Amino acid sequence: MTRSLFDETPTPYLAPERIAPGAVLLRGFALDLAGALLQAAEQVIAAAPLRHLVTPGGRSMSVGMTNCGALGWVSDRSGYRYSASDPQSGQPWPPMPDCFREVALRAAAQAGFERFNPDACLVNGYAPGARLSLHQDKDECDLTAPIVSVSLGLPAIFLFGTTTRSEPAARYRLLHGDVAVWGGPSRLAYHGVAPLADGDHVRLGRRRINLTFRRAR
Ligand code: SIN
Ligand code: FE2
Repeated sequence: MTRSLFDETPTPYLAPERIAPGAVLLRGFALDLAGALLQAAEQVIAAAPLRHLVTPGGRSMSVGMTNCGALGWVSDRSGYRYSASDPQSGQPWPPMPDCFREVALRAAAQAGFERFNPDACLVNGYAPGARLSLHQDKDECDLTAPIVSVSLGLPAIFLFGTTTRSEPAARYRLLHGDVAVWGGPSRLAYHGVAPLADGDHVRLGRRRINLTFRRAR
């Protein structure tokens, strides 16, 4: 099937698309759960609002972030880390909704990672122009578990490189309902998101929400 650059029609789930050893795109995989995922995401965001974290270098990130699950990823002047409570409220993060866990386990299994047991879900909120520069997810203790990333709302250009920062990253357009999974030899691959193009998504308007599931402890 060919898809024009501007076509925002979600792709029905076909088969895993291997992008690197241990890394796959599952296009349309989360479409059947997308309504439930969005509703649950709004509840998480209501309990623990998206906020622009500050990097150790003192920059404010353009992506708004929050978490659910036992642990949440946070950043401030003292560094990156996982925390069992929301530093903004002092309260535990909201629990991981059942539909979140379900899609994460199903996607991991589809990608060949059985028994994925995520204890952290980072919720990223993108407005037009927001971006995530190339980075590795390496603050987790358990690097045998994959990362499962669910895209909702506006399309994004996902950058996926190798474990060497200087090597060029490939670009993949991720639509509402697409899931990316990377683990094994790609677990520490550099990845990021290009500045979000403006648009109007039928469910999310001018927003993209991304869920990344991790085994942090
Ligand atoms: C991440 O790298 O944590 C998120 C990637 C994305 O938003 O697609
Ligand atoms: Fe990441």
